[in-house]
Amino acid sequence: MAIKDILTVPDARLKEVSQPVAAVTDEIRALMDDMLDSMYAAQGIGLAAVQIGVPLRVIVMDLEWGKEGAAEGHRAPRFFVNPELSDPSHETTPYEEGCLSVPQVYDVIERPSTVRLRYLDRDGVAREELAEGMFATCIQHEMDHLNGVVFIDHLSRLKRERAVAKVKKARRLAA
Ligand code: NI
Repeated sequence: MAIKDILTVPDARLKEVSQPVAAVTDEIRALMDDMLDSMYAAQGIGLAAVQIGVPLRVIVMDLEWGKEGAAEGHRAPRFFVNPELSDPSHETTPYEEGCLSVPQVYDVIERPSTVRLRYLDRDGVAREELAEGMFATCIQHEMDHLNGVVFIDHLSRLKRERAVAKVKKARRLAA
């Protein structure tokens, strides 16, 4: 397990469309562990493999970790391989989103409130469920990453350019 650098905008690799995983092997599980380590280290709740430079359709998520009232260090990681979304609800929910690839930028994105999700789990078992609430928002945000889309791509051009400028400036100051 290792903490990897998380790519930030405007890194061109974030625009890449990720490829399906052929089989959930130990190699893929090792990738998931690196993703989790990197996500927890950066205090995130979701991460797509492409964010650590691996363009495969793999997502890790932990919506319990760090939640108010959760026990210290309590972790409930989830793994989604080759996820597919369908039946998005007409009803939408606004949520103030952030992203480890766009640090310190938050903005409200409106997405379908519920969506059907099919995926392979960490053991390669096919699963299907209805995502709702914050889970629905998060899985749609991560699914975007697999298709080369970052949440600021849903904002106006002006807001997007401002966000990228802010991230670039922060990187310059940190360098
Ligand atoms: Ni993100």
